Amino acid sequence: MSPEAPRPRVLVVDDNAAFLDNLQELLGDAGYEVSIAESCRAARERAKAGFDVALVDLRLPDGDGTALAAELKQALPEAEVVLLTGFATLETAVAAVRAGACAYLMKPCSPQDLLLTLEQAMRQVRLHGEKRELARRAQMIEKMATVGTMTAGLSHEIRNPLNAAALQLSVLERRVRKLPEAQQGALLEPLGLARDEIRRLDHILEDFLQFARPREFRPAQVEVEPLLRRVVDLLGGQAEARKVRLERVGPSTAARVPGEEERLRQVLINLVLNGLDATPEGGEVLVSSSEDERGIRVTVDDTGPGVPVAVRDRIFEPFFTTKPQGSGLGLSIVHSIVTQHGGTLEVGEAPGGGARFQLRLQKSLPAPVSTGE
Ligand SMILES: Nc1ncnc2c1ncn2[C@@H]1O[C@H](COP(=O)(O)OP(=O)(O)O)[C@@H](O)[C@H]1O
Ligand SMILES: [Mg+2]
Repeated sequence: MSPEAPRPRVLVVDDNAAFLDNLQELLGDAGYEVSIAESCRAARERAKAGFDVALVDLRLPDGDGTALAAELKQALPEAEVVLLTGFATLETAVAAVRAGACAYLMKPCSPQDLLLTLEQAMRQVRLHGEKRELARRAQMIEKMATVGTMTAGLSHEIRNPLNAAALQLSVLERRVRKLPEAQQGALLEPLGLARDEIRRLDHILEDFLQFARPREFRPAQVEVEPLLRRVVDLLGGQAEARKVRLERVGPSTAARVPGEEERLRQVLINLVLNGLDATPEGGEVLVSSSEDERGIRVTVDDTGPGVPVAVRDRIFEPFFTTKPQGSGLGLSIVHSIVTQHGGTLEVGEAPGGGARFQLRLQKSLPAPVSTGE
């Protein structure tokens, strides 16, 4: 599902129209996406759309290329700037380095030199990206560890009084139900609301605890079909309350996967709950599966607004949530369980425009007795 890698973007800043034309053709043929600017001002404007490498001439009609290079580099620290100069002196070289340029080229330069320099600059750009990604992951792991120890204790402490309160509520509810029917409604409604709030809090605490205390992994053989049906059954009530159709659709499967039933259930519960959260009244959340020799794919589709491409990476981070009462832990738990099972999880778009979460798991080897599949 991964889209083709985007073309590297080059911004060429030079006031020589013929040179710009030449470069545009040369770089376009080499697979770059080229934008051009004939002045510092135009360059600043174009740079707002982003670029990977800027080729900047030293002499520009409205300013100095080195100053512009420094400015561009500051605006886009992960991009690189290559300076072009008609004459190389020690001063221009020093100025180029000071401005943060990664290279400078003498004009006229051969197409080979130019492409080679651009390639090297692009390598730098990719390294910046990788470095940022690594730093982001390290930060996430650190965040997870700190949170784990801190919240485990706290969640536990909160849960006990919460359970006590829930118990008292059910005592109250029983007493209310003994009153004459006419009096019940006005009392039962707020009771129900209080109970729902407690349930929600409990879910959040459950998320925290799951997250904080991953137990030892003890895989067994898990039958997929009963697992899917169980989750749909389990959450049927919640779906109904929200007037959303929740169903297992498509052909059933005889596949088994090596794993822990309880954890895989947790994965599906989280995915379906998210689907229910996202789906407006009258919509649907559908669970389906398909398989080939290598593995099984379980798909949860909904008819909500979908997950914007811009946040698709981030939704798996702990604490990333767009819900006022969300913990933002559901998908990070899902992700760690799926990884533990050697599987993958992808987010995309459902045919109806909602979100699609696709879980892939390795299948167990077929049982000695044929299942007739
Ligand atoms: N089915 C979905 N449709 C739209 N957005 C979703 C869906 N599932 C997850 N998300 C987005 O991912 C975020 C993180 O989800 P999650 O980790 O389960 O935490 P929470 O449910 O507590 O917000 C959600 O807040 C939401 O923005
Ligand atoms: Mg969730």
